[in-house]
Amino acid sequence: MKKYIEEIVRQAKVRARQESDAEPEPGLISPVQWPVNCDVKQGLEGAITGQTEIGYVNGPKGWLIYRGLDCFDLSEHSTFEETSYLLLFGKLPSKTEMDEFMAKLNSYRTLPDEALRLLDSLPVKSAHPMSTLRTIVSALGMMDPNSDVTTVKAETEVAIKLIAQIVTITGAIARIRKGEKPLAPDTSLSLAADLVRMMTGKMPNEEDARIMDICLILHADHGMNASTFSAMVVNSSLSDMYSSIVAGIASLKGPLHGGANEAVLADLEEIGSVDNVQAWYSLSKVGKRRVMGFGHRVYKAYDPRARILHPLAELLSRRDPNVRRLYDTAAELEKWVVGDLGKEKGIFPNVDFYSGIVYTAMGIEKAMFTPIFAVSRMSGWGARALEYLKNNRIFRPRAVYVGPLHVEYVPIEERS
Ligand code: CMC
Repeated sequence: MKKYIEEIVRQAKVRARQESDAEPEPGLISPVQWPVNCDVKQGLEGAITGQTEIGYVNGPKGWLIYRGLDCFDLSEHSTFEETSYLLLFGKLPSKTEMDEFMAKLNSYRTLPDEALRLLDSLPVKSAHPMSTLRTIVSALGMMDPNSDVTTVKAETEVAIKLIAQIVTITGAIARIRKGEKPLAPDTSLSLAADLVRMMTGKMPNEEDARIMDICLILHADHGMNASTFSAMVVNSSLSDMYSSIVAGIASLKGPLHGGANEAVLADLEEIGSVDNVQAWYSLSKVGKRRVMGFGHRVYKAYDPRARILHPLAELLSRRDPNVRRLYDTAAELEKWVVGDLGKEKGIFPNVDFYSGIVYTAMGIEKAMFTPIFAVSRMSGWGARALEYLKNNRIFRPRAVYVGPLHVEYVPIEERS
């Protein structure tokens, strides 16, 4: 079974390489000489925040690497835990290092009782799961007596702890939303397999466990995206790692960022079937409505993560006619959007377009899709915040003031 999945990833890589070779963009991988000259557009497009050894995204070619390793190769051979180690520590671990890392992750997987009690007291069923996740991570900071120690060593420990604990929190939120008691983590399982088990209440089969692992690998890091930048900005004030991750979660929640995976499924449900795609897409164009799961600030080619998730969604859709309908609708919508906006604006499916179909096939409800993204991106947030902390300077850009000058103060009783 696993071999079949790995073959799907290999084939996705072959297709990607046939369409473009993977070479760095000139000038985009060399040491930064401050002050740096760059063209900055609205939304800080083009702005350079610093230099990094963590990950590289080549937008024109659709190439993503973590610490020099291709995301296709990591998806084929690695695990989320190993990829997290790679992002945090800069190299693939030796066997001993991996065993130690796993032991540490496992030691942190159980949530403190206070956190479980807090979850019990919150309106978990009605609140968005990202709001609950944000609140519990914030509370975990209050429960950790060392949370305000902002050395690289102490913050590294918190990052590892949160990689483990966000999995358990996400599992607990999914269960409580369904009126069930949270399940305790099972450290004999990988984080990916245990995430599926704790969310669905069922032991995942080998196929689901492996595919969830690939999903977590693919979402782990992605350059200066909004949530990573948010986490780094907070950490740069020497706040603390918990606060930084809370900022990351808060930013990821929005539908223009991680929240798009949930929005995609809502769109696919609204469209209903392949037959309605053309009319729905025409209407969305007339209404200037964005098609969720398409477009990207950096990618102007097919997102390599979507290249992998698309065939995995197709594979899982074979099990259930409802999931098949979602998949067929998505594949048809992709044809319309890419056929129209692909060449003209470089708009292709992004990582969020097929991930929700994969999670639906695993029996996971739509509202939990973005927390799964957070489970994975926790590694990237931690790695990037720590890398910046090693040579920290507080982030402090400028805005251009365009308001009035020299306005006279008028007392309240004299104002019209
Ligand atoms: N559907 C239709 N048109 C689009 C879309 C879309 N999804 N995305 C961009 N465009 C058009 C946009 O209207 C604009 O056209 P024009 O130049 O004629 O005004 C052009 O493409 C450039 O758009 P932009 O808003 O300047 O691009 P951006 O880099 O600021 O935004 C984005 C990037 C991801 C927010 C945007 O593509 C979008 O809103 N996509 C839908 C939401 C989505 O899928 N988000 C997930 C992103 S990937 C996962 C992650 O990292 O979060």
